[in-house]
Amino acid sequence: MDKRASYKVLLSELSVLLEDEVDIIACMAIIIAEIYPRFPYYLWTGFYRSIGHEELLLGPYHGTPGCFRISFGRGVCGISAKNKETVVVPDIHKFPDHIACDTRSNSEIVVPVFNSKGDVIAVLDVDSKDFDAFDVEDKIGLEEIVGLLKEKRVLT
Ligand code: SME
Repeated sequence: MDKRASYKVLLSELSVLLEDEVDIIACMAIIIAEIYPRFPYYLWTGFYRSIGHEELLLGPYHGTPGCFRISFGRGVCGISAKNKETVVVPDIHKFPDHIACDTRSNSEIVVPVFNSKGDVIAVLDVDSKDFDAFDVEDKIGLEEIVGLLKEKRVLT
């Protein structure tokens, strides 16, 4: 199955899995559990949630321990959150403000997660051991998947 087809299958499976649950952290956990094993080039795969004043806090993930907090504007995650757009980094060693959490990582994609008002409520970060691992199919596929979180919220 090619990449585009894999993302389409994932989107449809995840739509069903998430439809009856409103809690965003539970839904993020399912997304990570489902997407990580589908693509052999995925390495660290996880969410950071927006909290407080322009800060990102580690959420559900798969991989080595990530740093807990990242300010908006810092690292690839913080830049994606601040600019409200997907950032694709073909070679993280050439990205001046990259924050290294897994030393095996060589490329990265970060996709912002929006609520229905258009606020950035989280980012999805996927790293790869491969250089230049992520292309427009990953961008479109992951943006569609995180769109499933638009109406979710944190239950207390
Ligand atoms: N590389 C990210 C930090 C998060 S970790 O890789 C898990 C960044 O530069 O924002």
